[in-house]
Amino acid sequence: MEHILIVDDEPSMLEFIEYMLRKDGYEITKTHEGREALELIQAGCNYDLVISDLRMPDLDGLELLKAARKGEGDIPFIYVTAYATSETAIEALKLGAFDYVTKPFQVEEFRNLVKNALMAHSLKRKVKVLESERIQDNQLIGISPLMLEIYKLIGTIAPTDSTVLISGESGTGKELVARAIHDAGHRRQGPFISLNCGAFPETLLESELFGYMKGSFTGAVNDKKGLFQMAVGGTLFLDEVGEMSPAVQVKLLRALQEKKIRRIGGTEEIAIDARVIAATNRNLEQEIENGNFREDLYYRLAVIPIRIPPLRERKSDVVTLVRHFINKYNQRLHREIRGITEAALSCLEQYHWPGNVRELENVVERAMTLESTDFIQVDRLPENVRRKAGARDNSIPLFSLREGLDLEAYLQKTERQLIERALELAQGNQTRAAEILKLSYRSLRHRMKTLNIHKPPSS
Ligand SMILES: Nc1ncnc2c1ncn2[C@@H]1O[C@H](COP(=O)(O)OP(=O)(O)OP(=O)(O)O)[C@@H](O)[C@H]1O
Ligand SMILES: [Mg+2]
Repeated sequence: MEHILIVDDEPSMLEFIEYMLRKDGYEITKTHEGREALELIQAGCNYDLVISDLRMPDLDGLELLKAARKGEGDIPFIYVTAYATSETAIEALKLGAFDYVTKPFQVEEFRNLVKNALMAHSLKRKVKVLESERIQDNQLIGISPLMLEIYKLIGTIAPTDSTVLISGESGTGKELVARAIHDAGHRRQGPFISLNCGAFPETLLESELFGYMKGSFTGAVNDKKGLFQMAVGGTLFLDEVGEMSPAVQVKLLRALQEKKIRRIGGTEEIAIDARVIAATNRNLEQEIENGNFREDLYYRLAVIPIRIPPLRERKSDVVTLVRHFINKYNQRLHREIRGITEAALSCLEQYHWPGNVRELENVVERAMTLESTDFIQVDRLPENVRRKAGARDNSIPLFSLREGLDLEAYLQKTERQLIERALELAQGNQTRAAEILKLSYRSLRHRMKTLNIHKPPSS
């Protein structure tokens, strides 16, 4: 269980955060004194995360971080503060804090932040040992600064009813973001209705959206409610909105402006009570210029624009996503893959991901079905991923006649890698690691000492 230390001189805040995080199953230690927090950290209590106030009477939060860094390495810090100035925030982030939030904060956003900080921390080492955890399928994953910005934005806009336009390349997670907005808002109990506007011919799209009255056209044998009506109290997600024909664009614009719709063949005006979120992987500005998309509709939809960056612009998310997908497919495929080798991960990090997160997910799933060892190996990755990444076969080093090779150094490096790998596999248990390497315990200890390898924290 992950252990979190909370420091805040405000008792109610302390209680609140404790309550919230205990519900999420973390082990919590709390104190209202900066000094005591520092003592706890220095006493080697091995916290996975510190959540700290910035201004405390006895010890400033930044001082706490500085002092903690000296001893205990790299515990992530999240600051909670009522007085965020950009300077303190920047200072905190420069010192290596994970993030900061200002009071009052969104509970959901905060819980995500905690989760991400813990995840980032445990991902520090390159070959990861995974503990299985329940995967929520529509959970947004990623801890790159670009994704953090998106989480913050979601937190800010979720409580409102403003129309949102999500843009981004295919597979970047637009639908997930739409769901996250819905789930974090006051309409979360209501329906989330998703319509792919590209999948319907014009007339059908219109009747899907607005519904119709019996007899309004051939085939309309009954009255039918449209999706605007079905989404009452919830969210209507219009995916691929750039595919909409001009005629339907006009009708959608009118509906959004008047906040009312009329069924095809109907006279009654029906008030809209749904939040509208639209998404597109086209460049709508360009489509406007080309005369394919109405500018006025664009502005109606893009009251709040969100651009999801492609995966290649946030490579630091790759490792987090890989871990998430390994967990997910361990459950789906009943596998027990424990992680990924450094070489394979490095391929994934170098590849340019034209299909974004969706492509990454497929690659991981495929590799896992093929993998027979505990870790995903380079040769389970598709040819194009390996090639584009310029991956080398790292089993035998290349060397030329002129340069030669420092065999001693090479062997030492290899020995180090293999011992580290064995320690990883043995979760830090040296007796077990020695067994794996078919060495005596003493011999392993001796080699570790010579190579200056420290025992990794057992996980
Ligand atoms: N940040 C993320 N965390 C976890 N999973 C993600 C993330 N982004 C995308 N995915 C996964 O990748 C797949 C594609 O995501 P999604 O359908 O939301 O993309 P999209 O942008 O709507 O793509 P398209 O434009 O092709 O419809 C889904 O399986 C989704 O679960
Ligand atoms: Mg989509």
